[in-house]
Amino acid sequence: MNPSEHITLARYLSEKPLPDALRGVLESIAGACVSIAILIGKGGLAGVLGEAGRENVQGEAQKKLDVLSNDIMLAANAWGGRVAAMASEEMDWPRPVAPRGDYLLLFDPLDGSSNIDVNVSVGTIFSVLPAPRDADWSSDAAAEKAFLQPGTRQVAAGYAIYGPSTLLALTVGDGVAIFTLDRETDTFVLTRDRVRIPEETREFAINLSNQRHWDAPVRRYVAELLQGETGPRAKDFNMRWVASMVADVHRILTRGGIFLYPVDARNREKGGRLRLMYEANPMAMLIEQAGGAATTGYECILEVMPQRLHQRVSVILGARCEVDAAIACHG
Ligand code: AHG
Ligand code: MN
Ligand code: MN
Repeated sequence: MNPSEHITLARYLSEKPLPDALRGVLESIAGACVSIAILIGKGGLAGVLGEAGRENVQGEAQKKLDVLSNDIMLAANAWGGRVAAMASEEMDWPRPVAPRGDYLLLFDPLDGSSNIDVNVSVGTIFSVLPAPRDADWSSDAAAEKAFLQPGTRQVAAGYAIYGPSTLLALTVGDGVAIFTLDRETDTFVLTRDRVRIPEETREFAINLSNQRHWDAPVRRYVAELLQGETGPRAKDFNMRWVASMVADVHRILTRGGIFLYPVDARNREKGGRLRLMYEANPMAMLIEQAGGAATTGYECILEVMPQRLHQRVSVILGARCEVDAAIACHG
């Protein structure tokens, strides 16, 4: 990509055959990500690090930046009449906004927030679904029902990663584009288009300290990787684990590999660790749009029919041939 071409996010979206309302939603999300990037960049100077002193619906301690990022995403998408309702990791129930809006927006406002106090990359993950025409917003339970659509219905998905550069990875169902935040103009500029996950993989990402809790198929798969050149895979693998899904997935989009957060004995009752609707589904759409694959081990993540807004799921995603090797161990 030649940066001198200077294709901004707005121009990129204007060249896609998308409804104006969807363009507007994506530009609002990008604007919120710029605000979050600025806040994260200030860090200790703005007094935004550390705990908020509250728990979210999942029983996890909220960081101040979890709450602030959530508020920024809500504020950026609350007007314009395009978003019917929003749902987030940090809110128990969906927040209805504009009953006649065309879209539902789901997000993890700050992913990898355990990394924030040690100055390691974090991100924002988002998913856009169509709003059902007959949606009922009169109660929390009815509003939740409107959101319970499989990932195959997503019309757009992406993440912002707040790292050495702030990047925005986006798909509208027509490949994956990556934009870099130009801090002088506060705009996202296209720096990679039609991203393809490299096929040749020698890198895997999993929290190995959970090994004793894993099920047999994941143990078998990782054991084969660890045997390296002398094992069945006949090559040495390298391991990376940032513990921010955005950073681990971004590495895979950039240089290949596989990411696993499988259901295990500790999280089985919850269904896994990562959330289906605002972590697994948007990442699965991006990965598939870049030529990769995303599975629970037994079915495509995008085909899982959600039963609950905050449902968790087993996640295996990355280069297609490597994901196929992991699926084979589940056979
Ligand atoms: P969040 O900060 O939104 O709760 O998500 C953190 C997730 C994900 O980003 C990462 O892959 C995983 O949790 C890290 O888990 P470990 O603490 O087991 O490494
Ligand atoms: Mn997360
Ligand atoms: Mn989060």
